[in-house]
Amino acid sequence: MTDITFDGRVAIVTGAGGGLGRTYALELARRGAAVVVNDLGGSVNGAGGDDAAAQKVVDEIKAFGGQAAPSYHSVATPEGGAAIVKTAVDSFGGVDIVINNAGILRDKSFLKMEWSDLDLVLDVHLRGAFYVSQPAFAVMKEKGYGRFIFTSSNSGVFGNFGQANYGAAKAGLVGLSNVLAIEGAKSGITSNAIMPVAATRMTEALLGAANEMLAADLVTPLVTYLASEACTVTHEVFSAAGGRYARVFTGLAPGWFAGKGATPTAEDVAANWEQIEAQEGYIVPTASSDEIQGLMTTLAG
Ligand code: NAI
Repeated sequence: MTDITFDGRVAIVTGAGGGLGRTYALELARRGAAVVVNDLGGSVNGAGGDDAAAQKVVDEIKAFGGQAAPSYHSVATPEGGAAIVKTAVDSFGGVDIVINNAGILRDKSFLKMEWSDLDLVLDVHLRGAFYVSQPAFAVMKEKGYGRFIFTSSNSGVFGNFGQANYGAAKAGLVGLSNVLAIEGAKSGITSNAIMPVAATRMTEALLGAANEMLAADLVTPLVTYLASEACTVTHEVFSAAGGRYARVFTGLAPGWFAGKGATPTAEDVAANWEQIEAQEGYIVPTASSDEIQGLMTTLAG
């Protein structure tokens, strides 16, 4: 395969002052992209802010001759999102790639969760991705080219104790990515979500002995590929951790049909539970219309 390069491409990486985002920014810049290194520079739980986080990564990129511009804006407001995209347009003339990566944690079991824990986590992860992606989508649509990567999590897609706010936000990002994949298809815009596992300041206390096998830069190759022109994959979710890369998908199985015109009882549902749960013969819908079409065929008998 020919080398993947990003010459002439402009990338925005949010939360790129450390952890996973820093590795994406460095790798894209090494391969020729001009990178907006965005980071508010706060703590893991979203407190404070420090311009040094983004600036340090910009300095690293410039030290090897790469192109980078810092953005210290928070993704968590519409104004912040617009300013991040404006930084890309003003500094480098456009935006081709958006890696929505900024994130925080406010873990608490459900009954202990306060609304402020919900608001902040939704604002940074979910709304933040909207605020950055909408102005970027407008620029990409005009150009007829774009690559979106959203950072989901196994906490959202599979569930994890103590992360109702985070899990809901991360699952929401899969929904956002799926819709952008559909809306962007005609304009050369792809959109995918990743579920990383990596040793960063966010997770090192949780991963224990596994830390050394889960270096952040083992997630980077998948993200780099998804961000490239060579990759036309869209509307997908991938797990990336420790050098293992795997598709994660939502399947729709044939299920049980009560019959044309029938109104089944709850007892009928219980009696047919095995067939309702059966996984054989599933499809992986690429839009809600895939389900509706299949459903119409079934209902027609
Ligand atoms: P990290 O804490 O090192 O990186 C997150 C970065 O986002 C920080 O540099 C932080 O300053 C920045 N940030 C936070 N709020 C911001 C805001 N409002 N505006 C701009 N920047 C902001 O953690 P890590 O692990 O690198 O996380 C990156 C992404 O990956 C996050 O979205 C996280 O939820 C996600 N993730 C990480 C996993 C892991 O195992 N490390 C697992 C699943 C998802």
